[in-house]
Amino acid sequence: MSTLSAVNANASTNVDFLPLQGTDYVEFYVGNAKQAAHFYKTAFGFQSLAYAGPETGVKDRASYAVRQEKLTFVFTTPLRAGNAIADHIAKHGDGVKMLALRVDDATSAWEETTKRGAKSYMEPVRTNDEHGEVVMSGIHTYGDTVHLFIERKNYTGAFMPGYKPWNSLYNPAPTGLLYVDHCVGNVGWNQMNPWVKFYEDVMGFRNILSFDDNDISTEYSALMSKVMSNGNGFVKFPINEPAEGKKKSQVEEYLDFYDGEGCQHVALATNNIVETVTDLRSRGVEFLIVPTSYYDELQDRVGKIDEDIEPLKELGILVDRDDEGYLLQIFTKPVEDRPTLFFEIIQRKGAKSFGKGNFKALFEAIEREQELRGNL
Ligand code: FE2
Repeated sequence: MSTLSAVNANASTNVDFLPLQGTDYVEFYVGNAKQAAHFYKTAFGFQSLAYAGPETGVKDRASYAVRQEKLTFVFTTPLRAGNAIADHIAKHGDGVKMLALRVDDATSAWEETTKRGAKSYMEPVRTNDEHGEVVMSGIHTYGDTVHLFIERKNYTGAFMPGYKPWNSLYNPAPTGLLYVDHCVGNVGWNQMNPWVKFYEDVMGFRNILSFDDNDISTEYSALMSKVMSNGNGFVKFPINEPAEGKKKSQVEEYLDFYDGEGCQHVALATNNIVETVTDLRSRGVEFLIVPTSYYDELQDRVGKIDEDIEPLKELGILVDRDDEGYLLQIFTKPVEDRPTLFFEIIQRKGAKSFGKGNFKALFEAIEREQELRGNL
């Protein structure tokens, strides 16, 4: 009997107890959601999707959902002081609050994760309107960041109950952004491994890649990183912690200005990075630029690639290769005045890694920016 239950216990640990269909949306708490939504439409090519606020029966906040292909961003602002959203913004500035994950069963997702030690943010809640039902639940992760579990298989409305469709006269063209490739968290000193264990134990993720401070260090600053992935690879969360260097780590600068742990960058996938980045630049998105000497040895380092080097060089797009192929990537400057959240634009051509070969050139570019801010 005891043997049988041991076998069953083993079998059950091999089942994915938290099947995820991908990122459902990313919600940002911001000081002025109306203007933030406008910025993401104008600069990044998102389209108006849905709105919630006093006019839709939500009295304490306004939320704007925007969409581009499979990417959905929500910008939420409080209408008064003295509440959790206002306090979040006062402490952190504008930043990512919710990394919402699409599930088939939000009740099971909450039960499976909380029984493995997750701290509940929201017990499963059913909401309805004339378009059907959404079930959502949530757990806390690093800092004040939350993972929501969204079950929307019985919902056909624009976004979710509480929202109404947002029809705008202003509909700028998309920029070719497709979906969330990965979301990176910055955590405090010695906190990377505890959070790796959280994603392993509580969410059933695996550590698929690790970088230590030998991989990721420049003359001055260093960081360590481990990439966590769910079973089907649709959801990837690299976790960074600062490492000792001669001067302040970029992760430490983030932790100082965000006043705690939080989401450092969201990587957005495109199928044509040259066109996407050309478009984003023309709309005013600012990118980190590496010295043109980066391109002198590029072909030796990565071999033959489909793209011409010249446009990559003009735009500052980085290239790296792994065993399975190559990838092209570029990073924006922080999108707020605090040096906190930024975006990565990434095009994968077979590679499943994260651009390790670019870390040095990239971090030197980040350090030049840190230096300009007086934070190195
Ligand atoms: Fe990244």
